[in-house]
Amino acid sequence: MSIVISCKNVKQIVPSSEGDLTILKDTFLEVNEGESIAIIGQSGSGKSTLLGLLAGLDQSSSGDIQIYGKNISKMDEEGRALIRKNYISFIFQNFQLLPSLTALENVVLPLQLKQVKNAKGRALELLEKVGLSHRITHTPKQLSGGEQQRVAIARAFACQTPILFADEPTGNLDSKTGEKVADLLFELKEQYNLTLVLVTHDHKLAKRCDKQFRMEAGILSQVDLNEKETQA
Ligand SMILES: Nc1ncnc2c1ncn2[C@@H]1O[C@H](COP(=O)(O)OP(=O)(O)OP(=O)(O)O)[C@@H](O)[C@H]1O
Ligand SMILES: [Mg+2]
Repeated sequence: MSIVISCKNVKQIVPSSEGDLTILKDTFLEVNEGESIAIIGQSGSGKSTLLGLLAGLDQSSSGDIQIYGKNISKMDEEGRALIRKNYISFIFQNFQLLPSLTALENVVLPLQLKQVKNAKGRALELLEKVGLSHRITHTPKQLSGGEQQRVAIARAFACQTPILFADEPTGNLDSKTGEKVADLLFELKEQYNLTLVLVTHDHKLAKRCDKQFRMEAGILSQVDLNEKETQA
């Protein structure tokens, strides 16, 4: 099995008024092709920080992050943008849809920016897959939370990049809608054979992934959620 994401000795230290603040301590993680992993952990423990580094949105203070064997830690923003374009899509907790654009335009825009051929056709196909064909002319304000997240999922999958990062994709949804969105996410993940890195507070969702990790005050370790729960 080939390693798609490799993270070694990664630290994130940021300056603060009280001196340097260590957000991530020596972080190690390997994710294989097609694998799904979940990261759980308390608020403020560093989960989103790690996701941002793995996805090439930010640069780590030290250590090596490789995406398909390419060391993104040493790359500048331009280099990382190219890696993101070719390999990475991201689903955010708060959807991050552009408020003035319709559902269709929100999915089409990143495809056009990537110069994908037949952007509109592909966007329509994905919006259909997420069950929103009848809502394509609606702007985010006219959509429910679950519908907005489905647009965000359509946008992420339309890019057809092999790695998907999702930061609390069901965090802003009620449990029933969250479950539907999670079903959709895993269904599309299988269909498109993606590698998935998911941050969630929801242990039920985390258990659907192949492996689970816990972030505790900037330290990442693999956990067995079933074991933890039987001990408790
Ligand atoms: N650029 C920054 N400068 C200073 N502190 C930061 C910066 N980015 C994150 N932090 C701090 O680092 C810690 C980890 O933040 P992070 O957003 O990764 O947590 P999280 O585990 O995703 O939490 P949540 O579950 O609430 O989303 C927090 O204490 C946060 O305030
Ligand atoms: Mg977070």
